Amino acid sequence: MIQRAFIRAAIFALLLTGCAKQMKRQSALLQYDKGIDGIIEEMTLAEKIELLHGKHMFVSAGVERLGIADMKYTDGPFGIREEMQPDGWAPLGWENDKATFFPTGSALAATWSPELAYEYGVGMAREARLRGKDMLLGPAINIQRIPTGGRTFEYLSEDPFLSSRLAVGYTRGVQDNGVAVCLKHYALNSQENNRGTVNVLVGERAMREIYLAPFKAAVVEADAYGVMAAYNKVGGWWCAENDLLLNKILRDEWGFAGLVVSDWGGTHSTVNSIKNGLNVEMPGKRFLGPALLDSVQAGVVAEELINQRAREILRVRMAIKAVPEEEANRQMTSQPPQQKIAYAVAAKSIVLLKNDGLLPLDLAEKPAIAVIGANAVQTVALGGMGAGVKTLYEVTPLQGLKNRIKDKADIVYAQGYEPAEFSFADMFRRKTPEELEQRAREKQVTAQQLTREAVQVASEADLVLFIGGNNRAVETEGSDRKDIKLPSGQDDLIRAIAHVNPNIVTILVSGAPNDLDVVKSVSRALLISWFNGTEGGNALADVLVGNISPGGRLPFTIPLKLEDSPAFAMGNYPQGRKNADIFADLVSETEAEGISTEKTSADEIYNDPNTAIYSEQSLVGYRWFDTKNRPVMYPFGYGLTYTTFAYAGLESDKEKYGKDDVITISFELKNTGSVAADEVVQAYVHRKNPAVEWPYKELKAFSRVPLQPGESKVVTLDIPVQSLQYWNENVQAWDDDLCTIELQVGASAGDIKLKKEIALR
Ligand code: BGC
Repeated sequence: MIQRAFIRAAIFALLLTGCAKQMKRQSALLQYDKGIDGIIEEMTLAEKIELLHGKHMFVSAGVERLGIADMKYTDGPFGIREEMQPDGWAPLGWENDKATFFPTGSALAATWSPELAYEYGVGMAREARLRGKDMLLGPAINIQRIPTGGRTFEYLSEDPFLSSRLAVGYTRGVQDNGVAVCLKHYALNSQENNRGTVNVLVGERAMREIYLAPFKAAVVEADAYGVMAAYNKVGGWWCAENDLLLNKILRDEWGFAGLVVSDWGGTHSTVNSIKNGLNVEMPGKRFLGPALLDSVQAGVVAEELINQRAREILRVRMAIKAVPEEEANRQMTSQPPQQKIAYAVAAKSIVLLKNDGLLPLDLAEKPAIAVIGANAVQTVALGGMGAGVKTLYEVTPLQGLKNRIKDKADIVYAQGYEPAEFSFADMFRRKTPEELEQRAREKQVTAQQLTREAVQVASEADLVLFIGGNNRAVETEGSDRKDIKLPSGQDDLIRAIAHVNPNIVTILVSGAPNDLDVVKSVSRALLISWFNGTEGGNALADVLVGNISPGGRLPFTIPLKLEDSPAFAMGNYPQGRKNADIFADLVSETEAEGISTEKTSADEIYNDPNTAIYSEQSLVGYRWFDTKNRPVMYPFGYGLTYTTFAYAGLESDKEKYGKDDVITISFELKNTGSVAADEVVQAYVHRKNPAVEWPYKELKAFSRVPLQPGESKVVTLDIPVQSLQYWNENVQAWDDDLCTIELQVGASAGDIKLKKEIALR
């Protein structure tokens, strides 16, 4: 084995040399510069300025006179958005713009599969091309800092390494298929409350090692062509005019050669934006239109700078071939090959948290199954604010169960609770106390009636599938959740069900962590099936009946209670009363009536709502719980299957490593059960005698390994020593902390099976 490890290390060293070159390798976009110089010479100043802002809601201009096509953007990140009025948000109501709904970010991340992330990107690009789009507004790769974050379901993970590997896969999949990505939201857009006003203050080390890492990986390794500047400020500067983020880090350090587009409505100035690195103001031209032309004519902005910003846009335009008008929108957006990809991702994403043997379901005696919970029939492709997918179809959990179980069980459905609903009016308008009281009374009556029905159905069944969780009204762009409790009184409902039937399997359709205290204690089995796309219900049913073994792993920690998680424990979140969101003006005048911006009571004023101080620094997610030695409900990386695995014999190819070496580790993994399944092996690094402070441990390698029953494999993982560097704030550079490290290999951050010490020197 040692010999094999040695050969592998040698191959990897060669690859790494390639990688090191790749780090210095220039973006493929630069090959177009020569041709672009000629084009720029031919363009008038006014034509150049036209490139730098929105022409329509999702289009920025080309130069018709010179045969340069407009740039067409589409949301992203989990399906191609429906076609809207050129200058508004109202749908055009087309028939053939129904797209495949791909599992959302946290589901994709739960697969722990960069290969599937690549396929996902391929699928997104194909459907973008069918619709004639050039740039996909995705992937969304901000770190999931707070469990309540409104867009946790869109983002990938709390861990920068897992996020990076997936962001690279997704980016390559898209760009290998003729569409540019737009990594969003750069940077530190890790909360939705006050996203349009908040100033994030974070140490540069945490910023680099945690929050920027996925962006860097997608730019440096996958040559991402587009980046979207976030709404918020970082270090006092709006992201769309942030010299440090855009010029210094993104362009100078990482070699980004493409275009930076503002988030929609996220531009705040003319001169600073253009100087500090923004290319395209979207969707209007308030700052980078006539005002910019004036600034150039007045000599405040040099034309050479305009040329450079235009050049960066034209590079992308040259790299991405525009789809001829007559070829776009000729067929239905959602096509079977993409639906298959959506199924493949969903099938590998479902996380089994608990199972006392009730799963997979035993259908031999045609059991009576009570399916209880509004999430069993709720679709999640749309809902809430922001991008959703008008999908061709979405298999709900109940439909999936019927598809797969057919007549092998008697399925009876009860709604159980009233699902949360989203309305713009509620988001921006505070209800009067009378209205609130009235609504609460109505809700109580409905809840009692729904509970009665559900308990009745449960009492007559052999088994209950409780299908609850959040929905897109609960998890939404523009606002964070207030807590992580299961909404709509689900805890009370499941307690009532448990009194009449103890055989409960709980399935949570959620994109973010929930408080599992109650459901865990009353359920014999517990799963998370995410906002899992067009094929989500079929994938779930396949797992429940045992056609496939569950194989997802948590991309985030599930805390015992919300207050345990870092930002809440440190008291730096929430930062005070929520202001109106960036889209507040979408609310019609009637809806807006009664909106008050006055602070209504003293205890609503916690502190400055517009400053987010990330005082936990790098201790995000499991880094916090591990370092502080605090218990969790389920650790990062956790997930069960229908089999068991044995780990043995951790070896490293050497005992001591220099700073340019690659640590190659190997161990034996065996499927010791009777069912085929995938194990996700995870390698963490714990520093024993470091010179600087570190989180207790950090994920540095992982692999998803399929194994047949009884099969064993030697698993090999590589950890370049350079990937263990830290950002040295004193010298403003990446630096080595060459110390003794303990390699910890296991099945989750909370289940380390093998350890080995090695030395860095
Ligand atoms: C969101 C972006 C999205 C854009 C265009 C913004 O509100 O933050 O993620 O791409 O709108 O729809």
